[in-house]
Amino acid sequence: MTKPQTLSESAGQACVATKAAAAGAAVPDDVRAQIERLKREQDAVILAHYYVPPEVQTVADHVGDSFALARMAVDLPQQTIVLCGVEFMGESAKLLNPTKRVLLPEPAADCPMAHMVRKADVDAARAEYGDDLAVVCYVNSTARIKTWSDVCVTSSNAVKICGELPQRNLLFIPDQNLGRYVAEQLPDKHVILNKGYCPRHMMIDRAQVEALELAHPDASVLAHPECTEEVLGEADYIGSTKGIIEFAASHPEVSEFIVLTVVGVVAELRRLRSDATFYFPATTPTCVNMAMVTLPKLLACLSDPTGHEVEVPGELAPDAKLPLERMLDYAAR
Ligand code: 13P
Ligand code: SF4
Repeated sequence: MTKPQTLSESAGQACVATKAAAAGAAVPDDVRAQIERLKREQDAVILAHYYVPPEVQTVADHVGDSFALARMAVDLPQQTIVLCGVEFMGESAKLLNPTKRVLLPEPAADCPMAHMVRKADVDAARAEYGDDLAVVCYVNSTARIKTWSDVCVTSSNAVKICGELPQRNLLFIPDQNLGRYVAEQLPDKHVILNKGYCPRHMMIDRAQVEALELAHPDASVLAHPECTEEVLGEADYIGSTKGIIEFAASHPEVSEFIVLTVVGVVAELRRLRSDATFYFPATTPTCVNMAMVTLPKLLACLSDPTGHEVEVPGELAPDAKLPLERMLDYAAR
């Protein structure tokens, strides 16, 4: 019979796994040189999300959360944007930069939550609340879903933007957990929730968090708002991937952190806080979609962009772009 793990053994295992992930970030000099050459040839800049493999983050020009990547994309001088992330990120970059070429190293990398809304539910809410309804769309959504929406938000600006909207009734799509978190922060708003969710964050349960807290009582608990309500109830800080990283970086007095999001963030956490220890749930949450964006695929895409280019159908683009532009306007206020 297998010996049952003690709490500290199981929490310790999670930590070892994350250290291995960060250590795997070494990229040979000749591969780096090849990437630099291809970037010059293609007039390309590489953007990466914190959830892609550490070696891809290492060679990127900019690494960020969804909002940072969307905002950054509009200010870059290069004519080609290589988006190391999932499909909705590539679509957002293309919508905001229609004259540029946007490439996805792995076009099949998709976010399941991005599809979890029914048009009939949006129509029903509009019929019920009329002009006093705003359809608020998490950027983790397809271009088509964005066309049904009034404004986009990300996990780093959802509370601020929802608080500033003139409407009292907000239909929040697709993520129920971020929507519920926004509703709790804004009691004056009536937030209608949709049933979408992130399968990776939903897998983190309170029992895993309590086990980590028991094993590491001095650790601060940092959580992404895509986690469930009961998991967020355990958190000392709730924020986007960038927010989590900035929290750890700006609290040098804390040396242990329990991190409740996808394990990809550990590369940047360890770069900024090499003195600290980061514990993840023993299930080591991994976004299988982001994990598809590998270094060989990035190289292949830079060598031959055929088949990697993001196209948003012309009939969707204007209406899908509008809520993204509104998000950038509200965020800049
Ligand atoms: P961020 O907005 O924190 O980058 O999160 C994106 C995401 O997909 C989380 O699962
Ligand atoms: Fe989508 Fe979840 Fe992956 Fe984020 S972590 S891209 S929400 S599946």
